[in-house]
Amino acid sequence: MGRKYTAAVSESRPDPRYIAVYPGSFDPITLGHLEIVERAASLFDEVVVAVGHHPTKPGFFSFGERVEMIEHSAKHVANVRAAHYSGLMIDFCREIGARVIVRGLRAAGDFEPEFQMALANRELEPSVETVFLIPEPSKQFISSSLIREIASHGGPFQKFVPRPVSVAMMARYPDHYGDVALA
Ligand code: COA
Repeated sequence: MGRKYTAAVSESRPDPRYIAVYPGSFDPITLGHLEIVERAASLFDEVVVAVGHHPTKPGFFSFGERVEMIEHSAKHVANVRAAHYSGLMIDFCREIGARVIVRGLRAAGDFEPEFQMALANRELEPSVETVFLIPEPSKQFISSSLIREIASHGGPFQKFVPRPVSVAMMARYPDHYGDVALA
């Protein structure tokens, strides 16, 4: 029975691999994001962490810097790569043949906008599923803007971000953290 089902499903698929896109602003990637990346990588054949342009977020790091920080931060996970897209995330999914969008769902506040975005994306492309992963409780409060705010005041943000982000962020505030390039 199980075998028959597997054969029927795979015959109808153009690509048997499950490519998942994990889209976001990642300005910068945090340990909260990284936990989602690692878990998604254990579920799907390939995970593309994709930096998108949010219409109301000006951007602290450039797209190139964000992609580079993601690559360095996730280099221990073999089936993860980073990219940047400029249009709709669903068009990017189509472009690379992804069939899943992964989003982290933190506290109650995340639900409404995520629900709306998932429904909109389903209208735009019914073949792409949105899958939500709930971050572990100790990481639920972390956000990129919180990290930027703590760092801008010289606070101890380092324990919330991967090492490459820590270095890049400290380099932005030499008055607070010294010359990390020489460290
Ligand atoms: N750990 C830590 N932080 C997390 C997190 C996690 N697991 N999950 C979410 N966050 C934080 C992010 O750091 C970010 O915090 P910030 O606002 O302080 O920077 C916030 O939650 C939400 O960020 P994110 O998940 O990155 O979404 P976004 O709203 O910034 O970006 C895009 C959304 C870029 C993916 C989206 O706007 C996009 O693709 N735009 C292109 C157009 C498009 O397709 N729109 C959708 C139409 S349906």
